[in-house]
Amino acid sequence: MNIIVKNDYEELSIAAAEYVADYIRNNPGKLLCFAAGDTPLGLLRELVKMNNSGEVDLVSMWYVGLDEWIGLGYEDKGSCKQIMFDNFYNAAEIPDNRIMVFDGKDIDLDGQCVRVDNFIKQQGGVGLTVLGIGVNGHLGFNEPGVQSDAKSLIVNLDQITCTIGAKYFSGIICPSKGITLGLGHLLNADKIVLIASGEHKSEIVRKSLKDKINTNIPASALQNYLNLTVLIDKEAASKL
Ligand code: PGA
Repeated sequence: MNIIVKNDYEELSIAAAEYVADYIRNNPGKLLCFAAGDTPLGLLRELVKMNNSGEVDLVSMWYVGLDEWIGLGYEDKGSCKQIMFDNFYNAAEIPDNRIMVFDGKDIDLDGQCVRVDNFIKQQGGVGLTVLGIGVNGHLGFNEPGVQSDAKSLIVNLDQITCTIGAKYFSGIICPSKGITLGLGHLLNADKIVLIASGEHKSEIVRKSLKDKINTNIPASALQNYLNLTVLIDKEAASKL
């Protein structure tokens, strides 16, 4: 595990974008997966800038969405799809046929899992995945207690995820279920970058990286993963 601490969110976002850009240059045509919370927004913005100035070719890659709130789609502000399309896929003009995301509005959610699992298989697995971390230690919607080898799965969201998730939905009630790539996909990626910013993440960053691995802290499973780069700012690193 390589832990890199940056001064602040801005520096962290630039360093993460440079890491991803290097991966893209060295692995053209591979499958990328980005988390869609608040933390990756700076990194996504930097990557789009690099794409527009010709420093990296985002259109040469394939993309799979990490997760989605059940019941929500692009037209719902705060959905993973809306966040990713508005801030990244559309901004970089990545064609739809290079992107696979969960449809949280489909009534056949098991079918959604199969569709996404098949896509990942066709692409030869996930190349690089960029993950954020929830204050409860979740990765995507792999909530406390999750199975460590699951592929795509439907989950009941943890109370903390629902409470914190309200920040994305400006007053609208947060969904109680989610659909996500499981740890079985994420831990099979060639490389993982974990990003975290702010004092409020410091305790869970410490527990995830330093405490004994346990399923109540899904992110602790990353300790077993060799190609992990942790990119965090000083505040998120303050309890390490
Ligand atoms: P955040 O979400 O980046 O909005 O803090 C992180 C997460 O819940 O995975």
